[in-house]
Amino acid sequence: MTYSQNIPDVSGIDCPPHRVSQLEAMAQAYQQVCVVGLGYVGLPTALLFARNGLTVHGVDVSPRVLENLAQSRVGEIYPELSDWWQEVQASEQFCASAQPQPADVFLITVPTPVNPEDKRCDLSMVRAATESILPCLKAGNLVILESTVPPGTTRKLVQSMIESYTGLKAGENIFLCFSPERVLPGSTTTHELVHNHRVLGGINPDSAILGKAFMARVMRGEIFMTNDITAEFCKLAENTYRDVNIALANELSILADEYGVDMPEARTLINMHPRVNLLKSGIGVGGHCIAVDPWFFVEASPVNTRLIATSREVNDRMPEYTAQKILWDVDDIDQPKLCLVGLTYKPDVGDVRESPAMRVVEILQEKGVDVVSYDPLLPEYQDQSLEAIAQGVDYIGILVSHTVVMETITQQRSALESVMRTPRIRIF
Ligand SMILES: NC(=O)c1ccc[n+]([C@@H]2O[C@H](COP(=O)([O-])OP(=O)(O)OC[C@H]3O[C@@H](n4cnc5c(N)ncnc54)[C@H](O)[C@@H]3O)[C@@H](O)[C@H]2O)c1
Repeated sequence: MTYSQNIPDVSGIDCPPHRVSQLEAMAQAYQQVCVVGLGYVGLPTALLFARNGLTVHGVDVSPRVLENLAQSRVGEIYPELSDWWQEVQASEQFCASAQPQPADVFLITVPTPVNPEDKRCDLSMVRAATESILPCLKAGNLVILESTVPPGTTRKLVQSMIESYTGLKAGENIFLCFSPERVLPGSTTTHELVHNHRVLGGINPDSAILGKAFMARVMRGEIFMTNDITAEFCKLAENTYRDVNIALANELSILADEYGVDMPEARTLINMHPRVNLLKSGIGVGGHCIAVDPWFFVEASPVNTRLIATSREVNDRMPEYTAQKILWDVDDIDQPKLCLVGLTYKPDVGDVRESPAMRVVEILQEKGVDVVSYDPLLPEYQDQSLEAIAQGVDYIGILVSHTVVMETITQQRSALESVMRTPRIRIF
């Protein structure tokens, strides 16, 4: 088996056993970890290493993030991280600041958004994060990029910045990997971080072996080694797979509406086929991953990504279609007043990045429709109740089915209907 193939075990890599042992011993000896970017991925990662006895220095350029950590507000913002935060506070294995410090291992977990105008990956934060660690790097360090990036970024951007600044040779006296994150933000984050299988690509076999041995100190899922470009490619392919399949479900739901077919019922029947698994249709695709990452493939190869680009467009058009459906629902009401509930990009998370629900609200407001919105998971609505907001409206549209919202609808449906001007509720 060659290094360029997917290698499930160190024994598959062309590396002498004594070198593997050396690298594994190095990984065991690492004690100081610097995590750059303390968001949905970086913070739980930092806490995971800290609660396993490593000394972790977290870095973030956002004063708000640092202030929240200083005020110990982690449990409020990420309830799923409460326990880990308490443990780490007690052990004093974690601190955070705006500047990196020398360490053994550097993890980069900063955002890689898509530029809204040209749909190209914005690598400025990966560049800035890499630049910030350069003065701290020394021989023997391991650098792991976790941010989702276009294939080739680890070696073309990060490796070349490291080598030209430090004079070290990546793969020989400083080691570099790309290891994408697969966690689902929300209640399962901590479990997934520890137990998900992960892909880890090294810029050479030594980097991969070292990276795997280090990650395996805290992670319990399988770690599959490969090269950096394959790992970068796999991450984009995973989210593209999801996006294309959701686009198919969404397109079929529009056809179902045209035929007067009930899509949930049709989907149940379709999925009785032993080799079909049609996903649920929805109001669009949001979040920092699925709505973003397929564009990195389109950017790299516009000619060969027609299906991928079209799927993105199908999913991006769903908020417009949803807004239209809402208007059809109230076209018998003069000057309807709408209440749209759920603004985050998916149920039970407080994240509004690329949220299709926010887009639905904007589209209706741009059309001059009277819309109020509500999301109990967002801080700005924390002191408000659905019953108060729904006073006098003609329509409640549940765009995002947060558990707490669905409980309210089930338990207080008649109370809600009694305060509405027209008692019409639709769950998308
Ligand atoms: N959120 C997810 O579920 C998820 C899953 C898999 C992969 N990813 C990928 O992981 C990466 C990080 O995503 P996230 O959701 O954690 O982002 P995030 O926005 O939640 O957090 C990133 C943090 O990095 C900080 N930051 C930005 N530039 C910095 C710099 N130069 N130095 C230090 N800190 C800096 C920001 O202030 C922010 O707090 C992205 O590439 C994303 O695509 C995210």
